[in-house]
Amino acid sequence: MRLEGKSALITGSARGIGRAFAEAYVREGARVAIADINLDAARATASEIGPAAYAVALDVAKQESIDAAIREVEVKAGGVDILINNAALFDLAPIVEITRASYDRLFSVNVAGALFTLQAAAKSMIAAGRGGKIINMASQAGRRGEALVGVYCATKAAIISLTQSAGLDLIKHRINVNAIAPGVVDGEHWDHVDALFAKYENLKPGEKKRRVGEAVPFGRMGTAGDLTGMAVFLASSEADYIVAQTYNVDGGNWMS
Ligand SMILES: NC(=O)c1ccc[n+]([C@@H]2O[C@H](COP(=O)([O-])OP(=O)(O)OC[C@H]3O[C@@H](n4cnc5c(N)ncnc54)[C@H](O)[C@@H]3O)[C@@H](O)[C@H]2O)c1
Repeated sequence: MRLEGKSALITGSARGIGRAFAEAYVREGARVAIADINLDAARATASEIGPAAYAVALDVAKQESIDAAIREVEVKAGGVDILINNAALFDLAPIVEITRASYDRLFSVNVAGALFTLQAAAKSMIAAGRGGKIINMASQAGRRGEALVGVYCATKAAIISLTQSAGLDLIKHRINVNAIAPGVVDGEHWDHVDALFAKYENLKPGEKKRRVGEAVPFGRMGTAGDLTGMAVFLASSEADYIVAQTYNVDGGNWMS
């Protein structure tokens, strides 16, 4: 019960990695706001997880939605002790085909969404005066560029950079800001990624997933469950002295 009595807000947690984090946090004793743009899915997820989870409507691309979600968590759970900035969008295109619309969509959710949710949560944490933990979801995609993945890679590089700046600025308030950089994690997100690669690389459905899984030194794609240990650790008091870091949890993918 390493998170007993803590209140967590996890963006984009109606499904995928965020949902697995919510389940792990509840097992560790936290109350968790399942905050998602898809409110119906967030409600279904919260009711499947149990009474320690509750759904909150949140579009991280809209400031008024961020502010309302933070207020709701303050009222329902007495404040925000832990934020995971997990919501993100993916897109794929060769450099000469990237559109302004795709760029704006990804940067407004993945970067502005994460920054301004972090800011609102940090203000709430500072006002409450009991510190906090903020975990940003980066990616191996933020460590280096990839031919077809220019915009998404740039958003995740920005997350690594913002984690450093926010981590250095907020530690004086005893708010730890760190990030997790997964490699390739199986789930609905990667079904979408696989379909996009199939189109651009002329592959059969499932082929890209098979190839990326085989290339991981661990021998398979990751699962959301592979990441939960790091997410619990970074939210716990065991991580109090860890500041502005991005941890690879990727089966050795980045190192290879
Ligand atoms: N799956 C992977 O292989 C992988 C690898 C590296 C990093 N990541 C990162 O991990 C995080 C979670 O990935 P996932 O695979 O679970 O993604 P996912 O697509 O399965 O889930 C994303 C969730 O975010 C929600 N969302 C989308 N836009 C939103 C918005 N504007 N406001 C609030 N919620 C919104 C969606 O409804 C969905 O529930 C992301 O930041 C992703 O970039 C994933």
